[in-house]
Amino acid sequence: MKIIGTGVGLPRLRVTNDMIAKYVDTSDEWVSSRTGIRERRIISDETLIDLGTQAAKEALAKASVDIADIDLLICSNVANSYVTPSLGCIIQGKLGASCPCFDINNACAGFLTAMDIADGYISSGKYKNILIVCAEEPSRIVDWTSREACILFGDAASAAVVTVGEGLQKMRISTKSMPDVLYYKRKLEYNPFVTKNEEGFKPLQMNGREVFKMAVSASVADIKKVVEDTGWKMEDVDMFVLHQANLRIIESIRQHLDLPEEKVPHNVERSGNTSSACIPILLNELLEEGKIKKGDKIVFSAFGAGFSTAAGTYIWE
Ligand code: UT7
Repeated sequence: MKIIGTGVGLPRLRVTNDMIAKYVDTSDEWVSSRTGIRERRIISDETLIDLGTQAAKEALAKASVDIADIDLLICSNVANSYVTPSLGCIIQGKLGASCPCFDINNACAGFLTAMDIADGYISSGKYKNILIVCAEEPSRIVDWTSREACILFGDAASAAVVTVGEGLQKMRISTKSMPDVLYYKRKLEYNPFVTKNEEGFKPLQMNGREVFKMAVSASVADIKKVVEDTGWKMEDVDMFVLHQANLRIIESIRQHLDLPEEKVPHNVERSGNTSSACIPILLNELLEEGKIKKGDKIVFSAFGAGFSTAAGTYIWE
């Protein structure tokens, strides 16, 4: 399986740390020094459907693949206003596609999880061209009256067209059930037969320090394992494309693995954490800047709610 086109759909509105400081007790100094984030895009008058459709169209154009030739659409999403049908199903209609489609939710590890699913279908010969769309709107699940989490996230969509090829080497997905460290529990509709206590619905809840520690240790372990399983040495790898949650997390992973700065690119400063959309956005930037070339060995790694992690090795074709 190989990636043949990537695309991005970003909200128009850039929200700086100073703008957030008008709503919660924080400062640009605190946010930029503790997270590296200086601004993020937040949905205002657009919809997540618009952004996902835009990202998908760009990826299809770059891949030179017509929507009619897409065999499957996988959409990665944590939350959006539609519980059903799937977001992928709605984006399918906007694209004029007729292929099957479904959503997955593996939080920030969603893109790599979708890659793994796509690889399974492509390797089996069932499908040839698969469109992955990651569309995330974390700004609508965080608490904008509290400073803990709203400063971290940005909204965005990104997409990739994947097809038959030899790019993907290994992919490893792990889950450790720890819902309490990072969760958002949505209130369901009234049901006259429910007798159990159903209080405690709140915006996104996060134990930041715990997530930080787990992110670093899990990502370091995942990367070591996939690099070893691929038969590579760490120094063979040209680029580490990591989930963009916090610059300090990225730096800590880099230092644990003793990697040179130029091999660990980041854009969290401008995008914040866009959940599963992060990795294809960064990949798209690196490709546009000509920083990835044919034959480059790439490692992907992502982590998030679950606690779920994913990492993969890839040779750019
Ligand atoms: O995809 C995964 C999504 N989640 C994450 O990636 C979260 C990972 N964790 C983190 O990025 C960091 O833990 C945070 C950025 C969330 C917090 O940074 P920290 O260095 O771990 O800070 P802390 O939680 O230890 O808090 C230090 C202080 C506290 O004040 P006191 O108790 O020392 O007086 C907090 O109340 O900073 C305070 N604080 C803030 N101050 C200004 C917490 N959030 C803020 C804020 N602005 N936004």
